[in-house]
Amino acid sequence: MSSRQALADELAAARDRTLRLVDFDDAELRRQYDPLMSPLVWDLAHIGWQEELWLLRDANPARPGLLTPEVERLYDAFQNPRATRVRLPLLPPADARIYCRTVRGMVFDRLDALPASADDAADFAFALAVSHEHQHNETMLQALNLRSGPALLGVGARLPSGRRGVAGTSVRVPGGPFVLGVDAADEPYSLDNERGAHLVDVPGFRIGRVPVTNAEWQQFIDDGGYDRRQWWSDRGWAHRQEAGLTAPQFWIGDGTRTRFGHLEEIPGDEPVQHVTFHEAEAYAAWAGARLPTEIEWEKACAWDPDARRRRRYPWGSAEPSTRLANLGGDALRPAPVGAYPDGASAYGAEQMLGDVWEWTTSPLRPWPGFTPMLYEEYSAPFFDGDYRVLRGGSWAVASSILRPSFRNWDHPIRRQIFSGVRLAWSEDEA
Ligand SMILES: [Fe+2]
Repeated sequence: MSSRQALADELAAARDRTLRLVDFDDAELRRQYDPLMSPLVWDLAHIGWQEELWLLRDANPARPGLLTPEVERLYDAFQNPRATRVRLPLLPPADARIYCRTVRGMVFDRLDALPASADDAADFAFALAVSHEHQHNETMLQALNLRSGPALLGVGARLPSGRRGVAGTSVRVPGGPFVLGVDAADEPYSLDNERGAHLVDVPGFRIGRVPVTNAEWQQFIDDGGYDRRQWWSDRGWAHRQEAGLTAPQFWIGDGTRTRFGHLEEIPGDEPVQHVTFHEAEAYAAWAGARLPTEIEWEKACAWDPDARRRRRYPWGSAEPSTRLANLGGDALRPAPVGAYPDGASAYGAEQMLGDVWEWTTSPLRPWPGFTPMLYEEYSAPFFDGDYRVLRGGSWAVASSILRPSFRNWDHPIRRQIFSGVRLAWSEDEA
């Protein structure tokens, strides 16, 4: 299949997913489920607006678009914080749908008209639009998970069973250099903050074979983990006190939780979700461990020490599939630990991609030679801010946009995201 046909298919797949996430009545689409999230109808028109800007207006807002300047301003994420979006005079859902459809029709015409000789930069813009749409689909799922009232979504697709004996175990990553990051030549659709590939020396360490489970987290709670100051950083403890944290978000306290409006028993062997960076750090201290740096994480995920090169995916070069990782969003939850032995990295770490975003200790910083991409505000405004990097992608991430080099970040107090924990140990402590 040509890369152009693949891009057309990816655009269509992302749009199918978006439309499934807005297949609700107008009142539902205009609701704000939580001040942290946008009304779904904002995401819908914003997806169309960014696509129009990048693919039809060469990322130049001065070039006239389909919306009036007053209306398109409503969809600029930097001008309109999430908490305020519900009060904006947004396009009604029917108009937002028509706008997105109109843009998409013109985008397909443009893709068809691209000369075969057009460079990779032209294809990249289309891939960026796909990535952006899928990233919004994940935030829309976060919003739907925060929604109160009878469930709108089902309980999710079936997942493979886990394996006993893997929770709480670790694998060793010997010290030595590896190639961190990627180049456009190898990963043409990688985003600016993933580039470029460069050699980094990493001391030996151990890392969890799988993410920390709900059952393990329950032990932390039972041991008074949330009440014992000793496990928490100063900032973490202050936040724990102020926010009244006593368990992961959505846990009710009697062994049950809510998930997309469904009340259910907490599965012990599933990776814990919906914890802040501060909770992750406290848990790690209690467990006699620490969180990995994002550089350690990437080495454990992508480096092949025998071949001395990166793998495209932790397991090798095969495209992600339901046998290898829990991605794509249909599951609506992480898979039990041990569910993907075939997806293990060269070092034996499992479930590195999919299931839960994993907190690392690293603030978001540029790799050497960083150059902003077409979407100039994607990364640079967040460098050295109050953010921590998360790695690996959650069950809600589309496999087509995920790579071992993919970097996500958020404030250390956020936990409506599908965030979890993988432990690490320096070699001398292990
Ligand atoms: Fe966006």
